[in-house]
Amino acid sequence: MKDNTLGAYNIADLRETARRRLPKGIFEFVDRGSEDEVALRNNRTAFERIKLKPRTLVDVSARSQEITLFGHAQKMPIAIAPTGTAGLMYYQGEIELARAAAAAGIPFTLATGSMTAMETVAAQAGGRLWFQLYMWPDRSLSHRLVERAKAAGYHALVVTVDGAASGNREYNLRNGFTVPFSFTRRNVTDVLMHPGWMLAVLARYVFTTGMPRYENYPSELRNKITARPMGKSMLRNDSLTWDDLRMLRKIWPHTLIVKGILHPRDAILAADCGADGVIVSNHGGRNLDSSMAPIDVLPEVVDAVGKRITVIVDSGFRRGSDVVKALALGAKAVLTGRPTLYGTAVAGEAGAARAIGIFREEIDRVLALLGCPSIAALSRDCLVLPPTADAAVGKAGLKLVDGARVAAEH
Ligand SMILES: Cc1cc2nc3c(=O)[nH]c(=O)nc-3n(C[C@H](O)[C@H](O)[C@H](O)COP(=O)(O)O)c2cc1C
Repeated sequence: MKDNTLGAYNIADLRETARRRLPKGIFEFVDRGSEDEVALRNNRTAFERIKLKPRTLVDVSARSQEITLFGHAQKMPIAIAPTGTAGLMYYQGEIELARAAAAAGIPFTLATGSMTAMETVAAQAGGRLWFQLYMWPDRSLSHRLVERAKAAGYHALVVTVDGAASGNREYNLRNGFTVPFSFTRRNVTDVLMHPGWMLAVLARYVFTTGMPRYENYPSELRNKITARPMGKSMLRNDSLTWDDLRMLRKIWPHTLIVKGILHPRDAILAADCGADGVIVSNHGGRNLDSSMAPIDVLPEVVDAVGKRITVIVDSGFRRGSDVVKALALGAKAVLTGRPTLYGTAVAGEAGAARAIGIFREEIDRVLALLGCPSIAALSRDCLVLPPTADAAVGKAGLKLVDGARVAAEH
């Protein structure tokens, strides 16, 4: 009988297999954070600080994880986050990952910086597709990309707003991996030591479409971005304002989502600009180190805009219990980034499906043990939250004035 588990019983198992399969430089690009990786670690410890408070003797025999997201019913409460390098995990990894999402009935978000063109993904994967947009300084080029996404039938536009500068990923400068991919003195041994990846991924690109590169970029930009270290922003992205979002609202007729919100006031501004949803995210701890864990600020964002627009969250979700905690705090869905990338690296569509399946099984078990037969039955009452740092600040003789901390006068 075929083993659909692929020998992986949790996301950590998939990560470990991906680590062995991928060249170190590529694995690090996927797996690591920025600078001292404080945000990366804290994304995980923040979940550990939240405890579950189960009820018992509830009939949970007919359990459902179904949710309605932007008016569409889906069988489980997750969606696939945009990740520029899915195409380096596996040959045309974006298509593999999008197919796994389509089979599970959940949305897949294609990144601006993907290695497969958005039209190809739409034609070959189907399903509910979202397109993630990084704005370029030349707004007209970005708007052309939006038009392409519209023509290709994408259902939602996800505008990422937490990249005014690229994260400081020093390991990436050391290991010498670049996009468009090019052989450097530093990465050639790394690639040779991973012949499986070299043959199944790199060689297949080389013999078909050439070295992996950003296939959604217009030729004007492609010419400008000859091999830069992965994760180094090719083009400045630091002049964006809320006016850009208002303009996108005018030209994009479907669901508009703003990704990378960590402050409740920014969530309110996004709603005021006409966004349909926000994604509370610190980019998986890859951009601003020491940024707070999204799960910690989620309740404030939900309180600020949850009645007006859809609140989604990502960063650090590795267990079904993490997802359940976020939903109990009021998120409507959770995005997964690295877990499904690890799965794609392990076995393409089957590996991505395994990652999704692990979340499905774990969410189901947690709902049963928590005494909640459905997502709708979850509430903050299911949780014990840690005392907040703000409360500690209050005790230490400080007071909050309009959100800013100032020393209390004695
Ligand atoms: C390798 C990698 C590439 C990413 N590329 C993008 C991107 O192109 N655009 C974007 O908005 N977010 C990008 N992200 C961030 C993810 O969308 C998501 O916010 C993050 O991965 C969630 O955290 P998790 O990996 O812990 O699930 C990337 C993340 C990873 C790991």
